[in-house]
Amino acid sequence: MLAFSPRTSRASRETSRYHHSKEQFSSLRPQTVAISFSKGGVGKTTTTINLATELATNGHRVLIVDLDPQGNASTGLGIERSQRKLSSYDVLAGTSGIQEASVCSCIAGLHIIPSTQELNGAELDLADVDRRAYRLRDALERSVDDYQYVLIDCPSSFGLLTLNALTAAHSVLMPVQCEFFALEGLSQLLRSIERVKVTFNPTLDIRGILLTMFDKSNNLSWEVANDVREYLGDKVYETVIPRDVCVAEAPSHGKPVLLYAPQCAASRAYFQFAEEFMERESQLMGTN
Ligand SMILES: Nc1ncnc2c1ncn2[C@@H]1O[C@H](COP(=O)(O)OP(=O)(O)OP(=O)(O)O)[C@@H](O)[C@H]1O
Ligand SMILES: [Mg+2]
Repeated sequence: MLAFSPRTSRASRETSRYHHSKEQFSSLRPQTVAISFSKGGVGKTTTTINLATELATNGHRVLIVDLDPQGNASTGLGIERSQRKLSSYDVLAGTSGIQEASVCSCIAGLHIIPSTQELNGAELDLADVDRRAYRLRDALERSVDDYQYVLIDCPSSFGLLTLNALTAAHSVLMPVQCEFFALEGLSQLLRSIERVKVTFNPTLDIRGILLTMFDKSNNLSWEVANDVREYLGDKVYETVIPRDVCVAEAPSHGKPVLLYAPQCAASRAYFQFAEEFMERESQLMGTN
């Protein structure tokens, strides 16, 4: 049975130097969400860019941090290589601040700190630097930008990049593909999150699980969706993202599917998911 264990008192002591209450945290930094899952190809990047698009369309100022060396979020938003003069690597290395490294996307109110292949070397390059797990969080705390949301697109491996994301984040959003190994990946990530909470970020919250690539004609999709809901209850968003070929086509046009094919089934689902996400956020912030 997957379970969310409460924060231990040891965790509180070990992290007291970095600990902020939810209220203090919110006033220091924009709501920061790590989009993470311990398996590749489950829809992390697709969810990041489409949620960010819808948040920005609703008038929020949004920053995506592309922390994946593959740079799919950057490509999916049409950021040319020539625009990637500074990257999330520079932010982690401390050679650039958030503001200098961010570039405008084609969507008003949505900025992105792109990724470059230098990120592949981050693990080694940052091995001996001070506060290596806190590089992104420190940069966000220093930033004077008035973003309301920062969405961090994580790689699927759990290394220093994902650790920086989970240390910087208030919450984690996990896209879970409706397929056989979903529960295995989910329990792996939940264990990693518990470890991060103990040592680095005690207030890290699992905000939600989003079921992706659901195929209603496939029994396995239903079984996985039922199992995930049984284990994680209301942590799982009501909205389910269907498998839809338009999603795979959109990145080659440098656009989120919400803009590439706004009427397709996946776009309608991402639109509905963003509504549910914003509703849950405002309930948690006590503004509803
Ligand atoms: N709902 C969907 N329907 C069909 N294809 C999808 C859907 N969601 C994502 N895809 C496709 O599946 C592939 C993986 O999606 P995506 O890049 O978002 O996953 P990821 O978890 O970020 O992968 P990685 O671990 O490589 O970063 C992409 O080719 C994407 O276009
Ligand atoms: Mg990705």
